[in-house]
Amino acid sequence: MKNLLAPRTLEFTHHHNPAALAEMERAEILADPGFGKHFTDHMVDICWSARGGWHRPRVQPFGPIELSPAAAVLHYAQEIFEGLKAYRHQDGSIWSFRPEANAARMQRSAARLALPDLPTEYFIESLKQLIAVDGDWVPTAPDTSLYLRPFMFAKEAFLGVRAAEKVNYYVIASPAGAYFTGGLAPVSIWLSSTYSRAGKGGTGAAKTGGNYASSLVAQAEAYDNGCDQVLFLDSEENTYLEELGGMNIVLVTKDGTLLTPHSDSILEGITRDSILQLAEDRGHRVERRAISIQEWKDGAASGEIVEAFACGTAAVVAPIGTLKGVDFEITHDIGADSLALSLRQELTDIQYGRVEDVHGWMMRLDSAQ
Ligand code: PLP
Ligand code: COI
Repeated sequence: MKNLLAPRTLEFTHHHNPAALAEMERAEILADPGFGKHFTDHMVDICWSARGGWHRPRVQPFGPIELSPAAAVLHYAQEIFEGLKAYRHQDGSIWSFRPEANAARMQRSAARLALPDLPTEYFIESLKQLIAVDGDWVPTAPDTSLYLRPFMFAKEAFLGVRAAEKVNYYVIASPAGAYFTGGLAPVSIWLSSTYSRAGKGGTGAAKTGGNYASSLVAQAEAYDNGCDQVLFLDSEENTYLEELGGMNIVLVTKDGTLLTPHSDSILEGITRDSILQLAEDRGHRVERRAISIQEWKDGAASGEIVEAFACGTAAVVAPIGTLKGVDFEITHDIGADSLALSLRQELTDIQYGRVEDVHGWMMRLDSAQ
């Protein structure tokens, strides 16, 4: 649903939160933010209707959303979201990483979920508007950031099954430290042999809540087996690697080639795309292709596959030390000199403004420029 009549800019109104946290309270949270537990004082809210398009953009106090019990999202899960981070640079300025790529992915997710198209300019402006009021929530400690969560859902109170004619788009923000509590220590992955994440023609390539809802029971199985994340295989043949519950996966061969699944039913990660670009810049070969679980098992046994890592906005790059399944276990000995950690360092150096951004990936979000 393209908005052909969308104006180029939106005039936001600002409604200050009278209960905004005092500096001391905020500082206490920023000292140990964890992941996804704390939220800033404000949020963006923009309405959409089939007749009026995008309208009533505002920044308002973070707080409960009024919703009819008949709101379509509660029944039919017509919802999409994005995830990106705001990084504090040494000089105090605030930047995001490839936000146009998140905007474009949200447009693709919207198309799949029959939700309205949010123009890239609106997406970017919504981030800037939130940073304008909540910029003090971007932490300064190493490896911390402000995780930005734009999302959109069907608000219309209607139980007929069709695309909603009333939708709202929001952005909330949450200060973030490490996603995995073990920091840079290698993570362990559980191979699900019971559940699939997505099927052919399904919603696997969209960032939509249902994909995560269906992953939860498999993720619980991973925890029960002492693992941090779950790995899904393709649903047709139960043979080829797809992705983790909330991250993409990359394997590294002994000659330094990076292998990563090519599939219509996985989320095209912006972190993965960037890491692969950085690896190519260094002269590594990259293969985006079907990778069977047997190839990984055989490669780990023969020494052909020497590393594996997970990557995503929340997790950044996490080396995989162990892959476990019902009847097998693979381990990779990940040293401090691993390619995964070196690419992670290079990526975060760009994100935090410590090295030159030769690809033009960074966009400043605060207004002092
Ligand atoms: N795959 C899934 C299922 C995810 O939830 C994420 C995280 O957003 C990713 C991959 C990685 O995407 P990105 O690097 O754009 O955050
Ligand atoms: C992200 O990395 O942005 C995600 O949405 C994944 C989730 C595990 C937090």
